[in-house]
Amino acid sequence: LNAKLTLDKNNEIAKVDDRIYGSFIEHLGRAVYGGIYEPNHPLSDEQGFRKDVIELVKELDVPIVRYPGGNMVSAYNWEDGIGPKIDRPRRLELAWRTIETNEVGTNEFADWAKKVNADVMMAVNLGTRGIDAARNLVEYTNHPGGTYWSDLRKSHGYEQPHNIKTWCLGNEMDGPWQVGQKTAYEYGRIAKETGKAMKLVDPTIELVACGSSNTGMPTFPEYEATTLDIAYEEIDYISLHQYYGNRTNDSANYLANNMDMDHFIKTVTSTCDYIKAKHRSNKTINLSFDEWNVWYHSNNADTKIEPWSIAPPQLEDVYNFEDALLVGSMLITFLQHADRVKMACLAQLVNVIAPIMTENNGRSWKQTIFYPYMHASLYGRGVSLQPILSSPKYDSKDFTDVPYIDSAAVYNEEKEEVTIFMVNKNLEDAITLTADVRSFAGYKVAEHIVMENDDLKAVNTAVKESVVPHNNGKSSLQNGVLEAELLKSSWNVIRMK
Ligand code: AHR
Repeated sequence: LNAKLTLDKNNEIAKVDDRIYGSFIEHLGRAVYGGIYEPNHPLSDEQGFRKDVIELVKELDVPIVRYPGGNMVSAYNWEDGIGPKIDRPRRLELAWRTIETNEVGTNEFADWAKKVNADVMMAVNLGTRGIDAARNLVEYTNHPGGTYWSDLRKSHGYEQPHNIKTWCLGNEMDGPWQVGQKTAYEYGRIAKETGKAMKLVDPTIELVACGSSNTGMPTFPEYEATTLDIAYEEIDYISLHQYYGNRTNDSANYLANNMDMDHFIKTVTSTCDYIKAKHRSNKTINLSFDEWNVWYHSNNADTKIEPWSIAPPQLEDVYNFEDALLVGSMLITFLQHADRVKMACLAQLVNVIAPIMTENNGRSWKQTIFYPYMHASLYGRGVSLQPILSSPKYDSKDFTDVPYIDSAAVYNEEKEEVTIFMVNKNLEDAITLTADVRSFAGYKVAEHIVMENDDLKAVNTAVKESVVPHNNGKSSLQNGVLEAELLKSSWNVIRMK
């Protein structure tokens, strides 16, 4: 089988916003307690943060981390998590039905984010709370001083404001599972008024409004349209969330799911632009895909967890090789929409549906999905180019005309480097790629990284990481023609300089 590609450095989609390589830490399961924070672990620092986890997060070069939820934020009192730890209340956490000890809160998380070189994307509670709690939080984190909340922050040992730039107005407010679920009208109103007050406190912040929780929601995309119509002038981004799973063990169909994601992005983009036209506005609303991943392996185990425990192992999906392929394809889809998708958060980062896992009081290790995420984050910074691709196609249960090859390319002019990311979804055969890359005169193949495995269900564990990339991919570049072998079911990163 053969595929053809043409790549021209002048054929730009848009500059990639680095924040598409963001992630997410929720107060859920062992993400915080036993994940990033474990004071009794021998590798923990003076604040109780695990240094091995910090190093793994740094390997991924995560630019922004969403916090503290997720569903959890919709019944969260942020004031519970500030001040002396000894005084912090234990609360029933209603989203996941656990006990929240509040040992980690806003200031500790801001410290941790600094340690991993990431910005914080902060979510406010629009389930049980509203304007007042949100504007006070912005004053606490961002106001320099001389007022009640900013001086309280100083009294807690934080002289300088955290200057958090990006804020989410609630989480998945369309979902019946959400504490304080809202109709689109109710949500649009509270998002607008809360956003207005938050921007009065600090006009430099950017706001993300909730869209639908996934494409299957009955109110999609009307929820987006109504919210945008009401809150257009206050907000800057609309959020998208989506998780996939291979529940019927149909790998060909499963791997095509990024076509659904592509459709989701196109629909939300059109909805934004329809409201823009309706409002005769010059302002463009962009997309924040602030929850995305594979999530299904742990569903059954989670039904057996006793309520009201502290940091139980919830949502601990163990990812296999095919999950890594779909994660790679989803990253490619973001790059193809670099003109409108400006933020994205792999949900989540540690232990909870995560690329990084830890054992309590033990090791930390990398899941299969760690690698495509790392490659995209490291080599996918620059300008996203439009590859003109002709690939053989297949049909699956839910999709027609699925290209076997997914591809995206990022040109980093400063480093004089161009990287092509590709997934071969053909489960039987390799595909030979012939690419016209003449506009990159004088470039050579620096590296062809491959993730391949004969077993689509192969996983990594704390003791054995058997699904890892190598850089022995077969490709050559001569007279402006790149020839590459894309092995059956494989993730490929071809770096040229
Ligand atoms: O990431 C896990 C959960 O998925 C989040 O809390 C919620 O926003 C979504 O439903």
